[in-house]
Amino acid sequence: MSQRFRDRLELISYPTRLEELKNLRKVLNAKQRLFIKRDDLTEIGLGGNKNRKLDYVMKEAVDNGADTIITFGAKQSNHCRQTLAYAVHLGLECHLFLTGEDDTPHQGNLFIYDIFGAHLHFVEDENDFPIVSENLTAELIAKGKKPYVIKFAASSPLGALGYIDSIQEISEQAKVVGADIGHLFLASGSGGTQAGAEVGARLFLPNAKIHGVSVSRKYDEQAPKIADLATQTATFIGRNFIFEKSDIIIHDKYFGEKYGIPTVLGIDAIKLLGRTEAILLDPVYTGKAFSALLDLLQKGELDDGRDIAFLHTGGYPAIFNFTEAFYEK
Ligand SMILES: Cc1ncc(COP(=O)(O)O)c(C=O)c1O
Repeated sequence: MSQRFRDRLELISYPTRLEELKNLRKVLNAKQRLFIKRDDLTEIGLGGNKNRKLDYVMKEAVDNGADTIITFGAKQSNHCRQTLAYAVHLGLECHLFLTGEDDTPHQGNLFIYDIFGAHLHFVEDENDFPIVSENLTAELIAKGKKPYVIKFAASSPLGALGYIDSIQEISEQAKVVGADIGHLFLASGSGGTQAGAEVGARLFLPNAKIHGVSVSRKYDEQAPKIADLATQTATFIGRNFIFEKSDIIIHDKYFGEKYGIPTVLGIDAIKLLGRTEAILLDPVYTGKAFSALLDLLQKGELDDGRDIAFLHTGGYPAIFNFTEAFYEK
């Protein structure tokens, strides 16, 4: 019987699939069994990790009587796409604050914002988000609206509950297929996914290591962020778990030059998974995270006789914005 800490909207189907990557294992000649958790296939708005978080956060918005959602992100934000899709699904208006100018072709997620009918606002600096969203909130309230602001990437303790659930599912699914998951790799950005997974692992997969693969920050910056949010998330569900920086694994050598710039290893990882399993990763998050898994596996650093899983957090709509990176010599 699954344990749930709050009610959720259930707009997506649970559990997502845990698939075995048998072709990839053969090509790599890997000793361990390899699995992938298909959180990219959560139905709303082309799927991805935010949907699990939004199933909780949007419930709070609806319960508060909100009729308008406000959130933020990069121009190619998967979080913005999924939040917008939830809003459309629930019949709510949605305002997206995006960083930068409206000076690039509307491709990938930016194209989808237009199709799903977002109200787009462009801001120079992401540090302006609090003030611009406050101003818009006041403006909307003056017009008789009920806005609800969603924190960056829905990475609050409430949103992180979605990743306690995902780990609980993995633990149950692993038992069914006789797998012993010792390592779970995931892309670590704003941190809600990893923080939820850390709490989920303490509860349901206590002997597994959560390998966060940073998409932008070095260990010293990312690990305390994750530890903090994981501790807050545990408190939120009434568990007295303390997470220290030293409890958190962050691989910070795989994001390359900076956030959003594809890496050679990431592109190779995308091609390898595409050619062996016909599963699509993206160059900003999952491709880089998967490249860490492959690199450490090939270096023998995961050789403890236990199986390995990868959390597919989605993001592939952005791949169509990066096609040139796949043809560069
Ligand atoms: C595809 C994808 N994977 C992983 C992440 C990272 O999740 P989090 O922000 O919860 O760390 C994101 C965040 O935007 C994402 O879009």
